[in-house]
Amino acid sequence: MQAIHQRMAARSLVSGDKLPSLRAFATTMQVSTSTVVEAYERLAAQGLIRSRPGAGYFVAGPSTAAPMPLTLAAMEPRLDRAIDPLWISRQSLEADAATLKPGCGWLPAAWLAEGGIRQALRTLARKGDASLAEYGTPLGLLPLRQLLSRRMAEHGIEAPPDHIVLTESGTQAIDMVCRLLISPGDVVLVDDPCYFNFHALLRAHRAKVVGVPYTPTGPDLEAFAKVLSEHQPRLYITNSAIHNPTGATLSPVTAHRVLKLAEQAGMTIVEDDIFGDFEHTPTPRLAAYDGLERVVYIGSFSKTLSAAARTGFIAARPDWIASLTDLKIATTFGGGRLNAELVYRVLSDGSYRKHMEGLRLRLARAMPEVSKQLQGLGIVPWLEPQAGMFLWCRLPEGLDASAIAQDALAHNVVLAPGNAFSLAQSSRGFLRFNVAQSLDPRVGEVLRQVLKRQTEKG
Ligand SMILES: Cc1ncc(COP(=O)(O)O)c(C=O)c1O
Repeated sequence: MQAIHQRMAARSLVSGDKLPSLRAFATTMQVSTSTVVEAYERLAAQGLIRSRPGAGYFVAGPSTAAPMPLTLAAMEPRLDRAIDPLWISRQSLEADAATLKPGCGWLPAAWLAEGGIRQALRTLARKGDASLAEYGTPLGLLPLRQLLSRRMAEHGIEAPPDHIVLTESGTQAIDMVCRLLISPGDVVLVDDPCYFNFHALLRAHRAKVVGVPYTPTGPDLEAFAKVLSEHQPRLYITNSAIHNPTGATLSPVTAHRVLKLAEQAGMTIVEDDIFGDFEHTPTPRLAAYDGLERVVYIGSFSKTLSAAARTGFIAARPDWIASLTDLKIATTFGGGRLNAELVYRVLSDGSYRKHMEGLRLRLARAMPEVSKQLQGLGIVPWLEPQAGMFLWCRLPEGLDASAIAQDALAHNVVLAPGNAFSLAQSSRGFLRFNVAQSLDPRVGEVLRQVLKRQTEKG
């Protein structure tokens, strides 16, 4: 009964759907058929399902039982709360000033462009036109799209301003692309490990998520080819410049192979380049090789400029941009015009470039410092990232990152345990560290105590 409840909560079973046959479900659940008969009868008695003689059991329609609201946390694979991605996000988002967040995915506010944003706000406040009160245009602020187009050209990506649509965030950009391209039940490929909110967002779209092991140069090509032939995925979502959580960079050879395989399989790639501006030396982008044929390119300024002035964008084929614009109107009506104006000002007055130079330097100093501190505790980086804020680290043998995260949380430290990023749950011994959030000496102290306690429990 619980398993059926969960499927209904996760919307993999909705009103009118046929339940698995008694025999099939008995095999799945490893119970006898009579147990399933009993469970179905009780669900029917509760009005949640109905039996149609000769046809089987069906989820009851809205007339007999109200449809259950979607519960993302109830979706497969079942995770304990310490590694449930939504729970980690909530812990990080709700953390008060006294909580340390070496596991969170963004920079401390003082590292972001607060000065530039303040200045831009003052300029905007003095402006006498409609930007403070009216809806934006469907594609979004033209000067910002023109500027984004020029920035993309620096990476070899040809995207004229009318092939770009502004969104309110990277997350909304991916959500819109999913609305455009996938139907419930479609297979979507992600890296394993990958940014954990990809899992949650794809489940909200009722996609079937399949993982491909990630290597220091990109997805494991053999596994990638195998998954393509077995599952015919509709989409692959990845970060090529600086991968979350590993900090790895896609190599040009892997990029070529991935594009070739995607082309053979008729699969679209969503290149989420949200960390691209952290690179010291630009590396190739899938969108540059592909010319936005089967790659949809996504960016946002949440990690570099401000997560409060939320602004993201999508660059894609013109026919898709037209449909995405319709979707944008249908689901949000207007974009965040004020945020776009703010971001445009900071980007165009030269302060962003200066801010990013300083930020890259600051991270380049923090990275070896935190790496050394962690290695002193026996926590070893999987690779030395070329840039960015993340260190993907292996714990000492035998330790469970989820238990460590739970223990640390009791001491006001939010960590990011590996399995939150892993569909196959193969990263039990990993933690992701944000070097900018790990410089406080209390992080090392709490970690030392937690490791000691967990090793003793061991
Ligand atoms: C890889 C990746 N993509 C997208 C996002 C979401 O960005 P935004 O704040 O623009 O929605 C994040 C945030 O952590 C991320 O790590």
